[in-house]
Amino acid sequence: MKFFAKIKKFDDVTTLDDSDLICYCCEVDKLTIVKAIKDGANTLALIKDATGACTGSRCKELNPNKRCCSKEINQLIKLESV
Ligand code: FES
Repeated sequence: MKFFAKIKKFDDVTTLDDSDLICYCCEVDKLTIVKAIKDGANTLALIKDATGACTGSRCKELNPNKRCCSKEINQLIKLESV
């Protein structure tokens, strides 16, 4: 039986581990954002306030997607707000 390693796509939060960074500018990991959502932060603005994520300005330089992390945060809100 062949083993296929999970391939991480940094623009698809379902492929990321809890310890993987979502916001590279502010070094906020997936678990921190998921916990904030579970605690009621169900909008991008509330996630910013609760975690500091998505408040940086070096996205093109630090984020592997070469853009802001808002798309991934919004993915997590959709997935975790059920
Ligand atoms: S990667 Fe989150 S603000 Fe830049």
